[in-house]
Amino acid sequence: MKILVLNGPNLGRLDLRDSKLYGNLNFTQLKDLISSEGEKLGFQCDVRQSDSEVEIISWLHEAADAKLPVIINPAAFTHYSYAIRDAADMVTAPLIEVHLSNPLAREEFRHTSVISGIASGTIAGFGPDSYRLSLIAMANLLK
Ligand code: DQA
Repeated sequence: MKILVLNGPNLGRLDLRDSKLYGNLNFTQLKDLISSEGEKLGFQCDVRQSDSEVEIISWLHEAADAKLPVIINPAAFTHYSYAIRDAADMVTAPLIEVHLSNPLAREEFRHTSVISGIASGTIAGFGPDSYRLSLIAMANLLK
């Protein structure tokens, strides 16, 4: 089964970000991890990253039209993009919110997620393992 794994702004530059928060993988390595872990669970993961809100919204529209499950790390858009929330709300298949770091253990502006309320669930704080856990959760939701 195909699933979309969408990643928001600055996640394409993980090698330049704080490895204590985000782990030691660059985005290419993270993408490979997601693809191989997804394959073990029977998923064909289409892993994408964009710094553009418009592009992420268009990918969510695509998921809504094709009834595709979505794992999404909206990155900083998590905290304020009502447009991404509204687009995510149109996805009828399960949608899981994922974060590398634990936003609730960080600055106060990260304590709000405008996405969580429409997500099937949220997994955060386990570095790259957050994605692995979200793939397992997705497999269970789709059983
Ligand atoms: C993040 C957490 C966000 O607060 C931050 O803006 C990111 C990454 C995470 O995966 O931990 O860019 O979504």
